Amino acid sequence: MSQMNAATAQTRNQDSKTATPARPAFGTVLADQMAVATYRDGRWSAAEVRKTGTIEMHPAAHVLHYASTCFEGFKAYRRADGGVHVFRMDKHIDRMRQSARLLHLPEPDATQLAQMVVDVIDRNRGQVPDAPGALYLRPLLFGTLPNIGAASIPSSEATLIVLASPVWDYFSGGVKPLRIFVEDEANRTAAHLGVVKTGGNYAAAMGPTLAARAKYNIDQVLFCPGGSVQETGAANFLLIRDKHIVTRSLDSTFLHGVTRDSLLTMARDMGFKVEERVFDTAEMFDWVKTGEAALSGTAAVLAGIGTLVHRSGEHKVGNGDVGPVTQKLRAALVAIQNGQAADQYGWTRVV
Ligand SMILES: Cc1ncc(COP(=O)(O)O)c(C=O)c1O
Repeated sequence: MSQMNAATAQTRNQDSKTATPARPAFGTVLADQMAVATYRDGRWSAAEVRKTGTIEMHPAAHVLHYASTCFEGFKAYRRADGGVHVFRMDKHIDRMRQSARLLHLPEPDATQLAQMVVDVIDRNRGQVPDAPGALYLRPLLFGTLPNIGAASIPSSEATLIVLASPVWDYFSGGVKPLRIFVEDEANRTAAHLGVVKTGGNYAAAMGPTLAARAKYNIDQVLFCPGGSVQETGAANFLLIRDKHIVTRSLDSTFLHGVTRDSLLTMARDMGFKVEERVFDTAEMFDWVKTGEAALSGTAAVLAGIGTLVHRSGEHKVGNGDVGPVTQKLRAALVAIQNGQAADQYGWTRVV
């Protein structure tokens, strides 16, 4: 073996000893048990927990034609002592009920849905990964009225399901600076539906996201219709510098993230100046010359952006690495989620 080959072989051996085993991609593995309830004749059935698997549905079901569907996404964490704690379930259930109302779907009962989530966590307890993994909870609601002429008639029948999925890193490769495409032409969603967590919004974002990924090799697209900064396809957007955060004020055009709310609450208590207001891409490009930019969401937690890519050129964010304040805020939130720091907000609930 030549000297170079020997050195290469040794490096490989070291790598194979230290490398973490490959994890399944986010969302590709489902936990064994799911909960199901149905709505008919003006009332919800009792929920049933059963093996995760196929469901029978009429091909005329409202959702398949008129996209009457919404969902949620949040996590339960296994702590060092083995206990499992769910993060801000009530806030996610509130958002799910708001989505249902805005889509004119039967509204899930908050108590029943919470119990379905707790039952699903309990029945899949053995499948909650250790930190930094988590059990991702995915409540899903859809209209099942069998009527293909119901484009402007709400579905009076619905199914509510709670799925669970053991998850590890959302962004493969862990915490690395993201490349984000700044889309100031296409919309992510209709302006009045941005606040709703509904499948159609993700369908609308798919085309612009795939096009930008193919052309610019980016991780996600930041939608800024008319130059006004909104959010990406799956996370909220924050500008950060020292003890100062700027993020879009709540309106109907984007999803009101629970992670965003958590980070802003903590930041205010840590003495940050938090500004919630409309801002444009010109201000954003100016800010990132010296500041930080990050995405917040259940899956991403708080992910630092290294580069903003625009049709006119690239803008490095700070020195191109994940910023120090982003890392600090992320660590503070993760510590509450994992129970390493006291939860002064009452956000975590043991299951
Ligand atoms: C479009 C969109 N915006 C923002 C978020 C972040 O929301 P949350 O922090 O509640 O997970 C998500 C993720 O659910 C999302 O899909």
